[in-house]
Amino acid sequence: MTDTKTSNAMWGGRFAAGPDAIMEAINASIDFDKRLAAQDIEASRAHAAMLAAQGIITDSDAAAIREGLLTVLSEIESGTFPFSRALEDIHMNVEARLKQLIGEPAGRLHTARSRNDQVATDFRLWVRGQCDAAIVGLGALMQALLGQAEAGKDLVMPGFTHLQTAQPVTWGHHMMAYVEMFARDRARFTDARARMNECPLGAAALAGTSFPIDRAATAEALGFDRPMANSLDAVSDRDFALEFLSSASLCATHLSRFAEELVIWSSAQFRFVILSDRFSTGSSIMPQKKNPDAAELIRAKVGRINGALVGLLTVMKGLPLAYSKDMQEDKEQVFDAADSLMLALAAMSGMVGDMKPNTPALRAAAGSGFSTATDLADWLVRALGLPFREAHHVTGALVKMAEDKGVDLPDLSLEEMRSVHPDIVAEVFDVLGVDNSVSSRASYGGTAPVQVEAQILRWKDMLK
Ligand code: ARG
Repeated sequence: MTDTKTSNAMWGGRFAAGPDAIMEAINASIDFDKRLAAQDIEASRAHAAMLAAQGIITDSDAAAIREGLLTVLSEIESGTFPFSRALEDIHMNVEARLKQLIGEPAGRLHTARSRNDQVATDFRLWVRGQCDAAIVGLGALMQALLGQAEAGKDLVMPGFTHLQTAQPVTWGHHMMAYVEMFARDRARFTDARARMNECPLGAAALAGTSFPIDRAATAEALGFDRPMANSLDAVSDRDFALEFLSSASLCATHLSRFAEELVIWSSAQFRFVILSDRFSTGSSIMPQKKNPDAAELIRAKVGRINGALVGLLTVMKGLPLAYSKDMQEDKEQVFDAADSLMLALAAMSGMVGDMKPNTPALRAAAGSGFSTATDLADWLVRALGLPFREAHHVTGALVKMAEDKGVDLPDLSLEEMRSVHPDIVAEVFDVLGVDNSVSSRASYGGTAPVQVEAQILRWKDMLK
C-alpha cells in the first residue's frame, strides 16, 4: 500500500490539503473492493470501446486504454499492483495506474461516467457471477442428494414430527425433500439474476450525460439484457444485492436444517448415518470422538449470512436518492455472505456424497416408537368400518397396553388385541410392519417407493 499525503489526484482540484488520516481510514474501500477489479476493468473496457465507437474519444486513445487495462489486470492477478489507500477505491486505483502506464489517454476514460454508475455496474456484475456460482453449487448438491435418494429409495427410517417418532418413511423420501427445497433456492437465484441483469453504466453521477453515449452497446458488451431505464434508480438502489442476500439466507436456512439432522443422525444415540472421515474431525483429548464439524459449521454459517441481509437492509433504509457514501458499506457483507454460502454448499455436497446410511439402525428405529399406530387405526377404519375417531381411541388403548408390557405393537397377541376390540382379526398384523406401512402411502408426493422413484426420475430428467 503506497500512501500520498497531498490532495487527491482524481478529485483534489478544489482542495488545498490532503485528508486527515482518520478521514482516509473511514473513506477508503480499496482493502475490500479490490475484489471488484476484474469487473471494474471489464466495464471500463466496454465503456472505452463504446466511447470510441460513438466518436467521443479517438480509436487510438481507446486502443491505448484497452491495452493499458489489460496490463493493469495482469498486475492485479500476479499480485504486483501497487494498491494505494490514498486513492480510496478500486476505480481510482485502476485509473491512476492506467495513467502511469499510458499517460494522457487514461484521463479520457472517465468521460460520460461517474464512480456512481461505475460501482453500481461492477457490483452488479460481481453479484450476478455469485448467482451463477450458487446455481452451480446447488445443482451439484441436488445431484448428490439424488444419488443418496436413488440408493435408498426403499430404505425405511423413522419420520419425525416434534422430533418424536411419527410414521415410517424412506431415506429416499427424506433426501428428496431437500432436493425440492434446494430447487426452490436455485430458482430464487435464477429469478434474482434475471431481475438484476440490467446495466447501470451511463447513468453517470445520477442524471445521465450530455455526451452521445450508446448505453445499449455497453449493456450488451457486459452481458446485460438492457440498460437500466432510470439513471437515478441505476446509481441508487442495491436491491439486487439484497435479493441475492435474501436468496442466500433462505438457502443457508435449508442447509442449516439439514446440517442439524446430520449432527443428530451421526450421534452415538441415533447412529442413522456414518459421515466420512473426510468431513469429520477428531478430539484432542477424547480418542473415541469423531465430530461432525463440517455439519456444525454449515449449521452456523446462516448466522453471518442473515446478518449480512439485515445489515444491508439497515444501511439502505432511509437513504434519499441518489447515491450516498453509505452505499460503500454494501460490499463487505455481501462478499462474506457469498463466500460463506459457496463454502457451505461445497461442504454439504461433499458430505452428502460421502455419507453412508446405517441401514440396520434406520430399520430398527423405523419400527420402534409405535410408528405404525396410524396404520393400525387406518386398518380399523378400513376393515372394521369404525369411525376414524373411534379407531384412534382403540389404537391408543393398544399402544398403552404395548407400552405397559414393554413391547412394540406387532408383539401383542391377537387375544390381547381382541380384549380391546373384539372384532379385530389376524389380518391386522399385515399392516403393522414398516415396509407395508411405507408402501401403502402411495398418494402423490407420499413416501411409498413408487412415488419416491417417480420423483427421482423427474428430477434426474430436469437436472440433465
Ligand atoms: N467506493 C465507492 C463505493 O463503493 C465508489 C463510489 C464513490 N462515489 C462517490 N461519488 N464518492 O460506493
